[in-house]
This record gives sequence, structure tokens and C-alpha cells, in this order.
Amino acid sequence: MQAEALNLLTRTMEAQLLRKSQPEGYPYLPPVPSSRYTDPGFAGLERDGMWMKTWLLAGHISELPTGGSYFLFEQLDQSVIISRGKDGAIRAFYNACRHRGSALLLQQSGKAARFVCPYHSWGYSLEGDLKSVPDQHDFQCLDKADSGLIPVRCDVSRGFIYINFDQQAGPLEDFLAPQLPQTEGYPIDKMVVKHRLLVEMECNWKIAYHNFCEIYHVSTCHPKTLSPYLDSQSFVIALLANGHMRFATRKKKGDSIFGHDLYKPDDIADIFREVTVALPSFPNVFYSLDPIGFNLQSFWPAGPNKSVMEVRMMGWDVDTEADRTHWESMKGLVGHILDEDLHLFGSMQRNLAQGIIPELVLGYQERALYWFEEEIDRRIGVDNIPETQRVAQVLSGQMQR
Ligand code: FES
Ligand SMILES: [Fe+2]
Repeated sequence: MQAEALNLLTRTMEAQLLRKSQPEGYPYLPPVPSSRYTDPGFAGLERDGMWMKTWLLAGHISELPTGGSYFLFEQLDQSVIISRGKDGAIRAFYNACRHRGSALLLQQSGKAARFVCPYHSWGYSLEGDLKSVPDQHDFQCLDKADSGLIPVRCDVSRGFIYINFDQQAGPLEDFLAPQLPQTEGYPIDKMVVKHRLLVEMECNWKIAYHNFCEIYHVSTCHPKTLSPYLDSQSFVIALLANGHMRFATRKKKGDSIFGHDLYKPDDIADIFREVTVALPSFPNVFYSLDPIGFNLQSFWPAGPNKSVMEVRMMGWDVDTEADRTHWESMKGLVGHILDEDLHLFGSMQRNLAQGIIPELVLGYQERALYWFEEEIDRRIGVDNIPETQRVAQVLSGQMQR
């Protein structure tokens, strides 16, 4: 983003600081039915209409450093091998042997010259071709050329690896286009994953994702951790097409929890030094770009009442003592800050599931949550959702084009 964009953002944040009421004419946000967070039927609609059809962030190119490197995507009751071939290309395959269906790979990540099934040793190349079958003469009907691993759509954008379970889905580039300009000037493709954490949560995935889409809770939940760095009142939101968003907040100390005295590339655009730019990326990704690095967070359902947060701590490719110490201590700090939110999620889920709170009430500062819920309905198809579970489509007129 260029200087002009920074100027515009600064003016918008200043106007936001002076705001004493909701902007005139801004749509009223109707209450959101709680059953969207508790009903197995709604979770099924999300699965069929959204998870199985949308581009999903699976990881980062640094997790596949060389030909033969692989990791497993194991969310949504799926197991997918994401691997780099000898040609350097990144591919995805169902982790399923064509013989009798065993998983091929059992370790979360590693390096392989071939994928060899742990059951009867059928062997596949890194390109997914079936290469070897012990006692092949006993399989008269087997057409090896037609028995390769089953591919999953896979593409890479700015260093992020995405998969899509729908072979008919439109290109990744089109899906991300509304948000891509927001990361210009921040070389995500040069980063590395410093740590990866999985956090199990006793709540619906959307309850957890909501938490990162508003700043309204920050002064209450994070008075000593995040609040000193973020000028919450300056929080501005751009609602983007395809359910994506861009948040911006003034830095209070010109600094962030990520600190300041660590390596950062010279060519990072000023906007990321001066403003906290956060990018909720539909359907389940959140990250907030800081010159030193960021947490790449993804939220996955594990049933209607349970979810998993995957956190990749992203930093620069330097290997110094200072860098190692920094990221080690960040692991503890990030865990502590997440706990400040997470300890409340179980009670929210319980009160929604028991029908005590039949609907959520969202204010103007929480309009991003509503935009996200509207997009879920658009993906599923509003007519496919029972009327009592829909959200009204009220924010399209507020989308930034
Ligand atoms: S199931 Fe894989 S070789 Fe038999
Ligand atoms: Fe929080």
C-alpha cells in the first residue's frame, strides 16, 4: 500500500476517534440466532455449503523447504498430504491408499522420497503416481496408470498454501483478489514458521473467530497486554468482497507486543510500521501484520460445540540467538494473551447451547462479525438455511469496492 493509502487510513482513524454515535444511516444489525453456533444441522450446512467448497489456508511454503517435504492437513475430518515434489511444485493429495484405503502417512510432517503405504507397501511417487505394488502379478485388473493418489486442489498465494475440496471452485486468485492489495509491501513469502500451536476450545469455531473480529473486548480482557499498544477507539473496518475484511488501529506507543528491537526487513511499507493492520480472511483466518512478525491463526470446527485454533507464529528467516530467544518468549506471551480470551468461550457456548441466550446482540463496533455471518449464509445459499437460522443481508451496501 502506498503513502496515499496510509493518509486515507490516518484520516479515517482520526474521524473514528471523534465519533460520538453510530454513523447516520448505518444499517441496524438484527440479533443473530444462537442455534447457528450449537445446531448440528447448521454445522452440516456449513460443511457442505462452505468448508467443502471454499479455499482454505493449509500452511506456509516455509513448511515445505525441499523436494520431498510434506505435512498433513488434518481438519474437517479430512487428512490431506501437502507436499513439495522434486520439481519444486507444491501438490495436495488425499492421504488415502488406492489399494484398500489406509492412510499413507502417519506423521504430521516429515520428508519422503516416496509415499509408501504402511499396510501392504504400495508405493507412490511425490507426484502421486502409483509406482510399486508388491506381488503385482496377483492384481490382474489393476491399472497402475489410473491408480495414482487422488488430488486435492492446491495453490499458493504470497507464500500461503491453500487447498480446496471442490474441483469446480473458481481460481484462488479471484477468491483472494479483494484482500490481496492489503498485504502489498509486506513480503509474507519470505517468512518462516517459528512455532505451530494447536489449541482445543470448548466452543463453536465461529464464537472463537468472532473474538478476533472486534476490538470492543480488548480494554476489558487485555488491560495489561494488548490494550497499552492499541488505540481501540481508532479501530476502522473495511468490509471487502468474498467475506474478507481489513482492520486498522493506531498504535499507542508506536510499538506492539511483538517488540521493536529485532530484525525486520528494510522494505516493509510504512503503513505496517505506523498502523496495526489486521486481516480477517474468509472463512477462518486472522492475522495482524507487524514488522517483526505475526500470528497466523486459523479456526476449525470439531463438531458444533468444539473447535481448534491453529496458530503459526510467523517471523523472518534469521537464525540468531536473539531471534530464538524472542520467539521462545513470544510462545509464552501469546499463550497468556489467548488465555485472557479463551477462558470465557466455554461459558458462552454453554449459555447458547442451553437456550438461555437465544440470540446474540451485536453493536456497531461488532459489524465485522455480522459481515462474516452474512457471507456464511451467502456461501451456503440463503434459501438452503431454515428461516429461523438465517442472518439478514444488510451490510452489502457498506462493502468497500
Ligand atoms: S491399503 Fe495401502 S497397500 Fe494396502
Ligand atoms: Fe482478545
